[in-house]
Amino acid sequence: MRALTWQGKRSVSVETVPDPVLEKPNDAIIEVTSTAICGSDLHLYEVLAPFMDKGDIIGHEPMGRVVEAGPASNLAVGDRVVVPFTISCGSCWMCARGLTTQCEITQVREYDSGAALLGYSRLYGSVPGGQAQYLRVPHADFNPIRVGSELPDNRYLFLSDILPTAWQAVRYADVGEGDTLAVFGLGPVGQFAARIGVHLGAEVFAIEPVQERREMAARHGVRVYDLDKDVNEAIREETGGRGPDAVIDAVGMEAHGSPIGKFAHQAVSLLPDALGRKMMETGGLDRLAALHSSIDLVRRGGTVSLSGIYGGQADPMPMLTLFDKQIQLRMGQCNVKPWIDELMPLVEDPGDPLGTEDLVTHRVPLNAAPQAYEMFQKKTDGCIKVVLEPQS
Ligand SMILES: NC(=O)c1ccc[n+]([C@@H]2O[C@H](COP(=O)([O-])OP(=O)(O)OC[C@H]3O[C@@H](n4cnc5c(N)ncnc54)[C@H](O)[C@@H]3O)[C@@H](O)[C@H]2O)c1
Ligand SMILES: [Zn+2]
Ligand SMILES: [Zn+2]
Repeated sequence: MRALTWQGKRSVSVETVPDPVLEKPNDAIIEVTSTAICGSDLHLYEVLAPFMDKGDIIGHEPMGRVVEAGPASNLAVGDRVVVPFTISCGSCWMCARGLTTQCEITQVREYDSGAALLGYSRLYGSVPGGQAQYLRVPHADFNPIRVGSELPDNRYLFLSDILPTAWQAVRYADVGEGDTLAVFGLGPVGQFAARIGVHLGAEVFAIEPVQERREMAARHGVRVYDLDKDVNEAIREETGGRGPDAVIDAVGMEAHGSPIGKFAHQAVSLLPDALGRKMMETGGLDRLAALHSSIDLVRRGGTVSLSGIYGGQADPMPMLTLFDKQIQLRMGQCNVKPWIDELMPLVEDPGDPLGTEDLVTHRVPLNAAPQAYEMFQKKTDGCIKVVLEPQS
């Protein structure tokens, strides 16, 4: 089959690789019909290079049709499924409590990481990912989400990751009718987080440097701001001088405007892999501009909810401010499955209340993935979300 493979920092290529096969009775194989590129893939492309191996198949936002179903899998050939990016057993102590990202069966103990993830580096188990024509789905007795056959892929595809990620961010932010919420970053995750805030009745402010991303959010009732030095002051003024009840950081560790973290990332990526891994596991620094701005902006007693990924082990944090302002911090990879019952009626609603059909800017064949990565990273050609079509 053809698959997108990691080749080096900022280098991916589509290669012919062996087809996946059933390895365990609860595995399934799907033929992938749509598979998206995520902001998280950009971290592999850039700063997580020391944890990648040449030839790794990337991708963790796939859906498709089952072509082989293991006898213990709960699926049948022909089922249409979305595959969550987290791999969990569904029945261990953590999964039973809804913490599927901490699954005790799939945890990657070698790196002291949580549950294994599709296509997401040694840190998360080096499991072959879904930007490919076929995908082996581990724990297919629990993970895959069966969907109907009538609506287009775009309606369902984002249940694999960014829609439940945004939903979890807003739930952790704990806002609803009449509350105020700010969102840093209007990539795909921030777009959905902001829209979900609006859907739940909050007044939503969002900060994003890229104009077409602001325009997209504004179409969905979000009050948008460019990233400039006075933006926090402007939003504070709009929220009674206090700041919003909650702030979501949907940017993560590669934020613009963080010169020290940027230098640290570049320094790590110049080291040989083994040294780079050691450095990131012990002294790694993130680019903290969005996180520090979130802490500054949130009102006293409010919540900062992180969906952006962080990976540093020695990040300086403003503990005085966090403690004095009495801020709650919530974060983590998304526990996908537990949120699906709330999300399914929204994605199937004829009115498309979360605008799943207004996010994708580019649908391209798998062969065009290397150019699509570059376009998504550099934000050229109005790119906001790319879906790859491995069968075309
Ligand atoms: N927690 C999870 O389970 C989970 C799941 C999916 C994605 N993520 C993470 O969420 C983050 C966002 O993902 P995405 O797909 O939307 O990616 P993205 O890279 O498209 O979005 C990031 C956005 O932030 C903007 N930005 C950069 N610096 C900023 C700053 N200082 N202030 C405000 N905006 C700034 C960028 O212009 C961009 O639009 C990434 O870190 C990704 O890894 C986490
Ligand atoms: Zn993702
Ligand atoms: Zn489990």
